[in-house]
Amino acid sequence: MSVRYEPVGWNASKIVLDAAFLAMITTYLLGFLWVAPRFQTITQPPDDFTVRMNAFGSCAFLLLTVILCIGPAARLDRRFLPLLYNRRHLGVMTAGVALSHAWAALDWYFAYSPNGRFVNLLSGNTSFGQVEGFPFELFGLFGLLVLALLALTSHDFWLHFLTPRVWKGLHMLLYAGYLSVVMHVALGALQAAQSPLLAVVVAFSVVLVAGLHLAAGRVERRRDAAVAPAHRDAPWVIAGPVGAIEEGAGLVVHLADAEPVAIFRHDGMLSAVTNLCAHQSGPLGEGRVVDGCITCPWHGFQYRLADGRAPPPFTERLATYRLRVEDGMVLLDPRPNPPGTFVEPVVVA
Ligand code: HEM
Ligand code: FES
Repeated sequence: MSVRYEPVGWNASKIVLDAAFLAMITTYLLGFLWVAPRFQTITQPPDDFTVRMNAFGSCAFLLLTVILCIGPAARLDRRFLPLLYNRRHLGVMTAGVALSHAWAALDWYFAYSPNGRFVNLLSGNTSFGQVEGFPFELFGLFGLLVLALLALTSHDFWLHFLTPRVWKGLHMLLYAGYLSVVMHVALGALQAAQSPLLAVVVAFSVVLVAGLHLAAGRVERRRDAAVAPAHRDAPWVIAGPVGAIEEGAGLVVHLADAEPVAIFRHDGMLSAVTNLCAHQSGPLGEGRVVDGCITCPWHGFQYRLADGRAPPPFTERLATYRLRVEDGMVLLDPRPNPPGTFVEPVVVA
């Protein structure tokens, strides 16, 4: 087919965000490399390798913290959504920074090993039974492998090839990678740290990541509970107040044992479709209405509101749902219509 989907309309912001992240990373690294030597004491004379290793290591750790915070932050507040769409590029940058850190560490610590750096990294230290002197580098190695794997499979080709379910499952490894990096720092740098700064940064990161996930989980559980457990036997479930759906935006309704549904408001009318994009299961509810069509935030596939059909010449179709409005509340019939079924949009005010 000669006709192609245009990239999503707000893609320009992706370039701006990429540039902003790159500028922040560069500023942090240059700042660290410039400031840190000034804090070295006579007992700890400055050495370029250590400063470089610490600069890249701390930068990778902070970036990893930011990446893990973006998901729950976007679930708590829609204003973080643009960051969510840009997370992949940030992940690739983080893997690059972490690799530079590991490279600097191998360059310095293992440079004179007779067996070679990598053999020494894997087998040079076997003090697994003690905290002091534990081979903490292996935790770092696992974290690095996770970051590298996710960066290497971040392209859409892999999303398509592995299927969205496997690809998303793979991304759960990031939590294991993060925990591994926390152990890497706790058993490594923190054991000999002379200032409490690193401990404060690590503790702050752990509390922030865990706290945001707990808060987002609680809000979602409350939202799901509001979706009508009292109405379980009735065909209609309460999706939420009309006012919760902004013009041109979507509201995602999570149903027990069923696909989530996205309800959109456009020109004072409501329509509902499955939340899963027909392309690669992107989260349609986080998209917007552009040119009268629901537009997926991932790659810009579009669907008409009333029948869930992609405008010609495209042929993708989404399941649609029936809606009702009563006393300012949006009610949803959770039974999906066959993909492409026309449903009269519901007028609200
Ligand atoms: C093969 C992989 C890795 C190796 C060999 C490695 C090695 C090291 C070494 C030797 C140190 C110095 C410890 C000390 O000061 O006693 C260190 C510190 C550190 N590493 Fe790694 N690391 C690896 C991966 C990672 C990854 C993937 C991250 C983060 C995403 C990371 C984050 C850090 C941090 C935050 C520090 C402390 C930096 C500071 O003191 O300012 N490391 N690493
Ligand atoms: S456009 Fe690709 S997942 Fe929706």
